[in-house]
Amino acid sequence: MLTPETSDNGKRKSLHGHWSSRMAFILAVTGSAVGLGNIWKFPYIAGQNGGGAFVLVYLLCVFLIGMPVMMSEILIGRRGRRNPVATMALLGKEEGSSSHWKWVGSLGVLAGVLILSYYSVIGGWTLAYVFKSVSGTFTGASATAVGAEFSSFTSSWWKLALCHTFFMGLTVFVVARGVERGLEKAVRFMVPALLLLMFTLLGYSINSGHFGSGVAFMFSADFDALTWDSVLAAMGQAFFTLSVGMGAIMAYGAYLPEETSITGASAAVVIADTGIAILAGLVIFPLVFANGLDPADGPGLVFVTLPLAFGHMTGGTFFATLFFVLLTFAAWTSALGLVEPAVAWCVEHFKRSRAEAAVIVGSVIWVLGFATVFSFNAISGVTFFRGTLFDNIDYLTSNVMLPLSGLLITIFAAWVMCRNSTSEELGGAGTGYRVWRFLARFVAPVAILFVFLKAIGVLPEMSGG
Ligand code: PHE
Repeated sequence: MLTPETSDNGKRKSLHGHWSSRMAFILAVTGSAVGLGNIWKFPYIAGQNGGGAFVLVYLLCVFLIGMPVMMSEILIGRRGRRNPVATMALLGKEEGSSSHWKWVGSLGVLAGVLILSYYSVIGGWTLAYVFKSVSGTFTGASATAVGAEFSSFTSSWWKLALCHTFFMGLTVFVVARGVERGLEKAVRFMVPALLLLMFTLLGYSINSGHFGSGVAFMFSADFDALTWDSVLAAMGQAFFTLSVGMGAIMAYGAYLPEETSITGASAAVVIADTGIAILAGLVIFPLVFANGLDPADGPGLVFVTLPLAFGHMTGGTFFATLFFVLLTFAAWTSALGLVEPAVAWCVEHFKRSRAEAAVIVGSVIWVLGFATVFSFNAISGVTFFRGTLFDNIDYLTSNVMLPLSGLLITIFAAWVMCRNSTSEELGGAGTGYRVWRFLARFVAPVAILFVFLKAIGVLPEMSGG
């Protein structure tokens, strides 16, 4: 196995290179965090779970659970400077516990591979929709026509397969180029472009005449309608959107320069990610209501409702194209984060070149992606447990694997690692450190366990006295 070199000051260095600056790291993590999760998934899950109350629980999960987990991942990553599996094994031993912690890293690598297998298929949809928009497919189209366009597209397995192949190709291409030349170059351009485009769209949605109903849907909370299943979905979404609980952030943390503040960088990323999800909701829900559409429409929400809305606005072709370009960019930078742990592991474990590792991992994920491709056509009628095969992969990864691995990662950082190690990484034992330690030791683990056990029905209903 390849091991990281040690630099002059005795600190480990990553053999994959380092981010050139603090800003590059923030952009990379933001690029990974902001993706289909914010723009495609958040609105449709919030829509399916009734809006307001779900959104509030999601926000609580982001700040009380997601952020401490993110800080734990970055600090572990930077201390180990290897791929998540090797880092967990190394620190496990170094901190006087056991190298079996590598299984937590492996769980994360596996989660990333599984998530990317379906993420890439949806990323392929966004690519296809760029072309559909440019060619004016949606101009003046009726609701039935836009709906029919989406179902005829998703019912064609080879079209989905083709787009999935393209999207995987784009991902492998950037990852193969490495940290500084690939990942960093990509995010430097994409993240700022994304923000600019979102604000342009917000301007449009404010003028749609239904901005108030969109805001009301997102923020008026009816907690009575909230089930534990929705709370688990909100927690899963918090993990998914922040890219935490699978080693992606740990892998990126391994390339973080010594002097960068982990707390500051995490706060910037969490705020940017949450801001963009809320922004996406504010763009999408008013358009949904302005067109008499259903917020609980499911995975097709963005792909059906928005083209319809765009088709009826002046300059619609332009805005629709802009929107799907934005979504493709967002998905692309996130896919990089999903694949990075597995690629870094492959490079170190099998002593492969980065390019070889990217192609090997990419091919495995490409094959797995067919489970999702067929879930929308050939086997769409085969449903069990949570729905189609795609629904089950999504449930298993977002609602089970991410929280479970996030739980173990935080327990490792806050209970297994000694105080000196963590406070050294988090820049001293100030207030920020104490807040992190409290959240990571008690709040996050208890909350994750509680919500999870409640949702799967292991904990009984409390009889309110
Ligand atoms: N956070 C990304 C999104 O919101 C998805 C993702 C999850 C990326 C985990 C990397 C790791 O779309």
